[in-house]
Amino acid sequence: MQDMPITILGIESSCDETAAAVLRRNANGDTKVLSSIIASQDEEHRPYGGVVPEIAARAHMQKVDSIIDQAMKDASIDYDALSGIAATSGPGLIGGVIAGLLSAKGLAMATGKPLIAVNHLEGHALSPRLSAPCPFPYLLLLVSGGHTQLLAVKGLGDYERLGSTVDDAAGEAFDKTARVMTLGFPGGPAVERLAANGNPHAIKLPRPFRGKDHANFSFAGLKTAVARAFEASDKSDAAKADIAASFQQAVCDVIFERTSKAMDMFTSDSSSQAPYRFVVAGGVAANKAIRETLDTLCAQKGFTLTAPPMKYCTDNAAMIALAGIEHYIKGNFAALDVKARPRWPLDDKAAAANPASGFGKKGPKS
Ligand code: KG4
Ligand code: ZN
Repeated sequence: MQDMPITILGIESSCDETAAAVLRRNANGDTKVLSSIIASQDEEHRPYGGVVPEIAARAHMQKVDSIIDQAMKDASIDYDALSGIAATSGPGLIGGVIAGLLSAKGLAMATGKPLIAVNHLEGHALSPRLSAPCPFPYLLLLVSGGHTQLLAVKGLGDYERLGSTVDDAAGEAFDKTARVMTLGFPGGPAVERLAANGNPHAIKLPRPFRGKDHANFSFAGLKTAVARAFEASDKSDAAKADIAASFQQAVCDVIFERTSKAMDMFTSDSSSQAPYRFVVAGGVAANKAIRETLDTLCAQKGFTLTAPPMKYCTDNAAMIALAGIEHYIKGNFAALDVKARPRWPLDDKAAAANPASGFGKKGPKS
């Protein structure tokens, strides 16, 4: 335990949210989020039905300094009071990562405070610990527009990737399904609303990797099948609702089966012991049908389900500042010329063993 409070400014800019947060860890180990600001770029990307990397980079550049300023004001502290500055340094859309990292470097240089380069995925991995005690080890399903992966979070810096998407992320599949049926962006909430009026068994859609003895995901084939089903339909509201419901059911089935496999891998590892914990994070975790699917699965497999509040589930800077605190304690500081990394696997061994896994069109999901 440290003697002095640690106060870290965190900056996040790896996808389409520009975010800054200030966290303080007191000498007794309690951690408090003093501020957390998130500026979404949904408006900028809406006309394109998906995140456009160049538009994202420009928006981060325009917003990041004022968002940092706001986070510092909300926390009511001066730069002098900071212990260090943590910024996402990858993986993600490189233009955005550079924009946030450059601001962090500028601040570190101007204030003389240490710079901490944070892996965005490590932020997600630790995020459940922002709102409630969540002791290691736990199994994490990260399902967002940028990532779909299953991680055994065993301790700080000790992450085992049990499965990952080999193509699109689950959120991307929701967004593309919405785009095909012109439902707007982001697509997930629109597809979920429409699915409520449809028959989940009306359209036959694939369940990629069904029966396979691994915990990887694939969503590209599902997306293509949805596009075909829509083309072949009469494009009525009823047909759209059936497609949305059938698509959502397919995603639920895939998540159920792949996660079940990862749970078997997790419980057979000698480092995990009952009670087993399962955490779901990422924007897609907002989907009620997916939550219910995971509730059922956890009950069957003897896991307790933790779903952090959505503000910490989706991209945010509080999780980056939290990872920053942990690295600060270990003295893991970055040089001012540290590079932004489009790809940065949390688990190097898994990434090397299965290089095809963890990539996607929208961005690297390693
Ligand atoms: O975590 P997030 O806010 O940002 C990143 O992608 O990093 O996740 C956004 C993704 C989008 O693809 C969005 O369509 C999806 O989460 N999403 C949903 C729902 N709400 C958001 N997908 C399914 N059902 C929802 N209710
Ligand atoms: Zn993320």
